[in-house]
Parts: sequence; structure tokens; C-alpha cells
Amino acid sequence: MRSIYFDYNATTPLDPVVRAAMLPFLDEVFGNPSSVHHVGRRARALLDDARDRVAQVWRAKPSEVVFTSGGTESNNLAIFGAARLCARAGKRHLVTSPVEHHAVLHCFRYLEKHEGFAVTYLPVDAAGRVAPDDLARALRPDTALVSVQAANNETGAVQPVAELGALCRARGVLFHTDAVQWFGKLPFADIGQFNAVLVSVCSHKFHGPKGAGALFIRSPLLPDPILFGGGHENERRAGTENLAAIIGFTEATERFVREPAFDAVKLAPLLQRLGALVDSLEGVQRRTLLSTNPKLETRNPELLPNTLAFTVAGADSIALLAGLDLEGICASSGSACSAGSLEPSHVMLAMGVEPKLANALVRLSIGRQTTLEEIAEVERALPLVIGRVRGGHRR
Ligand SMILES: Cc1ncc(COP(=O)(O)O)c(C=O)c1O
Repeated sequence: MRSIYFDYNATTPLDPVVRAAMLPFLDEVFGNPSSVHHVGRRARALLDDARDRVAQVWRAKPSEVVFTSGGTESNNLAIFGAARLCARAGKRHLVTSPVEHHAVLHCFRYLEKHEGFAVTYLPVDAAGRVAPDDLARALRPDTALVSVQAANNETGAVQPVAELGALCRARGVLFHTDAVQWFGKLPFADIGQFNAVLVSVCSHKFHGPKGAGALFIRSPLLPDPILFGGGHENERRAGTENLAAIIGFTEATERFVREPAFDAVKLAPLLQRLGALVDSLEGVQRRTLLSTNPKLETRNPELLPNTLAFTVAGADSIALLAGLDLEGICASSGSACSAGSLEPSHVMLAMGVEPKLANALVRLSIGRQTTLEEIAEVERALPLVIGRVRGGHRR
């Protein structure tokens, strides 16, 4: 059976050049960068070099690059680290949005439930976007940290992070953005463009390895560590560095961030066709939306160039995904972590979608290997699968 991969927001295949760059680090370059002997010193030199290379792409200082095990860890370090640091100065109020990835949302829920923080969840519109005015109203004298994602993994909605970050800076509040879905998909000039003091990234969303990420920490901020041990990563993250993963992250960053791996010009007509398909089906509602315009403008800075989410009346996500899989099509119902669970999408619920439909979400996310033939195959299969699932539901 032909395999059609439309789940690039879950993960992307490792680029062959990135893989080749990593291989020596699984063999001959095995030293521990903290060892004093020459084998360790060689590893240290290559680790330092990787940090310099990432800093150059980001236009940051090397000391502001902290390598982590991925987006989840970067988010945990940013949120727990900044919140606990500020709590010692008497600031215990936090702000986030209800459409964040669970790797952000669950940190806030934990801080709220177990560490006495107050959390404000900003409202979002039907497109899933927060409004800077709502943030301005939510900020308090004791606000420690605001965290709003750069782009949503389920809908592709891009948040006005530069505006949100500017507001926070003016009020002396730390601003974090989870930019995991943003890097490699939209044009990047400078880590400063987010106006954030903390930015989370991981490489498996842009053809780098899994288990590899980084957190930008604007100096001189020193969030509390969440991992304790040695003084690795400038005292910010203990643990022997995974040099192969770091090299993969670095190589992918150099190749696919400045020039995004997701080519908006190539993807636009493909996503337009998927949008037209979805808009033509009865009882199917597109959830990848612009705030003010119902049309799908795929090269709009309010949206990722590769993501299309929709809900299907009279069906449910699990049956739809299984039906698509039988046709060889890999799709998702949102974040990979909650695929397989019957929980309605928290993103859809926050956008005001009724629970039954929030439980019938399908996300198609395309990428650099997507072809017109594959789009045509989805045009053929999707109406059939929806018909079959609805038929099953009626029985
Ligand atoms: C927006 C967002 N944040 C964080 C993560 C978690 O990243 P990782 O898989 O590297 O832990 C994901 C992964 O799907 C994501 O989409």
C-alpha cells in the first residue's frame, strides 16, 4: 500500500545531510565534553562550535543557547525555571493561553495546583488567537511570566508574539514563547523578533533528530534549574551532553531555519487544494482560520504554510484517522501525544467548538515531500472515508 505522510507537525523525516553529520558522533567522537583528556577536549571543542553555530543563526550570544532534550524539556525549563525564580521576589501570577501544547499547559496546571501560583488563561477568538489588549488587561503588578506559543500545532494559527512580548517588556514581565512549530516553517531573521526572553525550539519538526532541542535564555536571566547535577550548559541544565543530537540540531538549524524547510511558495497551492476540498464537503468545517477573513489565504503570516485542521459532523477523530490510515494516509487529530485518546481537542474547545465536534478533529500537515499526486489521492479518499465513518455511526 502507498504511504502518504500528512503529519509533518507531529514529526519530519531526518534529512540525509543532517544524519551524515551526526554519524561520527555515534562512533569515533564519543568523548565526554567534561573530561580533561584530549578525547574529552575534542568533544568539548565540537560542542562549543555547535553552540557558536546556533548562536550565529539565532543572532544571539553563545551563552544564551541551552541545549535540551527537546521542546518538552525546553518548555518545562522555561516555565518552572522562570516562575520559581520570580516567586522568590514575591511574584506569583502567571499568564498563558488555553491553546498551548500540553508541554506548556501542564506546567502551568502543576504550578497552579501544587506551588500556589495564580494563572490567568487568556481568551482566544474562533481562529484560536489571543488579543494583545486582553494580555494588557491581564497583567498585574505581581505577574512573573507570560507564555504564549508562536504557532499552534493543531490549527497552524500564528500568534502576535512580537506584540505580546513588547507589552511584557514594557511592564517588566518575563515573556516565553513555545516556537516549536514555528521554526523551519516561517521566515526567521533573529531570535529577537519574538520579543521574548525565553524561546523553546526542537529539531525534529524541521528534519533534525528527535530528542534534540534548545532554549534561548536572554542573558543575564538565570531561571532555576529543573535538572540538578553537574554544571553543564552554563549551570542551566545538568547532564552529559548528547553530542550527536546537538550536532543534528545544529546542522538542521543551519540548513532549515534561515531558509525554512517548509517552502511557502511550493506549499501554498497544495494547501489551497486541500482547503477547497474541505470547504466543499458537507458538515465539514475548516478550523484553520484567519481572524477576520473566512477565506484560506495560505501565504498569510497569521497561518503556518502547511497546516489544515477541520472537524467532521457525525464522525469522530479516531474512526476518521483509522479510516484514512486504511487508505494509506497518515493524519492526526492534533498533538501526537493525545492521539489514541478520546479526549476532545482542548484547542478546539478553547476556540468555542462544541465538544462533539472537538472530538471529530482531523489535522493534515504537509511538508517538503508532499506532491500533487498525494493531494489528488486525499481528494479521492477523504469523502469516502467520511461517508464510511458516518455510515458506521448511524448503524
Ligand atoms: C507546539 C509544541 N510544543 C512542544 C512540543 C513538544 O516537543 P518535543 O516533541 O520535542 O518534546 C510539540 C510537539 O509536538 C509542539 O507541537
